[in-house]
Amino acid sequence: PLPLLLDCDPGVDDAICLLLALASQEVTVRGVQTTHGNVALTSTTRNALDLLAFMERPDIPVYAGAAAPLIRAPLYAPDIHGAGGLGTVQLPLAGQNVKAEHAVLAFIRQVREQPGQLTVCATGPLTNLALAERLSHGVLRELRALVVMGGSIEAGAPKLGNVTAHAEFNAHADPHALRVVLESGANTVLFGLNLTRQVRVTRERTAALTALGTPAASLSADMLNGYLDLIEQRDQRVGALHDPCTVAWLLRPELFELEPARVQVRLNEDEQLGMTVREDGEPNVQLAVKADEDGVWALLMERLG
Ligand code: BDR
Ligand code: CA
Repeated sequence: PLPLLLDCDPGVDDAICLLLALASQEVTVRGVQTTHGNVALTSTTRNALDLLAFMERPDIPVYAGAAAPLIRAPLYAPDIHGAGGLGTVQLPLAGQNVKAEHAVLAFIRQVREQPGQLTVCATGPLTNLALAERLSHGVLRELRALVVMGGSIEAGAPKLGNVTAHAEFNAHADPHALRVVLESGANTVLFGLNLTRQVRVTRERTAALTALGTPAASLSADMLNGYLDLIEQRDQRVGALHDPCTVAWLLRPELFELEPARVQVRLNEDEQLGMTVREDGEPNVQLAVKADEDGVWALLMERLG
């Protein structure tokens, strides 16, 4: 199986991304590194520990990472993910503890021990990976692949961002870190909102998950129903399964269409902060452009069931 690290801010969809990876034999989760993001670092770390305990995988190490972005002030999303980060779900407190080693140092250590071997799915703000690159130049190039959920590339789209009119949450929450990652030369695959919005979350789908009856499927359905409750209050009728697309691509690449692209992120301190744009020039990512929505859901149902 493919050795995998998850860099995440759980987060309802981060949590489902983790559950999908744990349920899949093609990958082996070597560790979970947490970041500030949907909620504060203490909560994202707590959630990672509790999710692993719930799945009876306390053997998987959790490393706490960056508590704040590189330059901008922290930005959280409790209006989307709930105050605790998992919608309205409250998991039992896990017994195990976070590792003493900082996520950024643990990441550098693991990549240097196994150059070219590790894959990372990064589903939160990219602060940990940017810090790693700055501490240990070239470390991101030594990943087998870096699969990122972030940004939004839709030329002429009526609604580009989800946190501002122009920017996607992970890109906006640490745009400078995204810039470091995009310039790192890593083998990056980018899943922006342009892709993840194709994989919609509906009440019919959460009901089908509930009907599967397994702990992982029921938990996922409960978290997604809480997420739908929250976004409906904000007049967003359709939710999207953002972060699990990264792991789904590792499992079933044929469910997605990718194309080489050059993507850059705006750092101007104005209303476009964190906006991602496609530019001419040497490609720096494989950009995911099309998803087989039913295929991704079928995969999730199969694995969580
Ligand atoms: C991204 O932002 C977060 O709220 C989600 O977990 C996902 O990673 C979508 O823009
Ligand atoms: Ca996330």
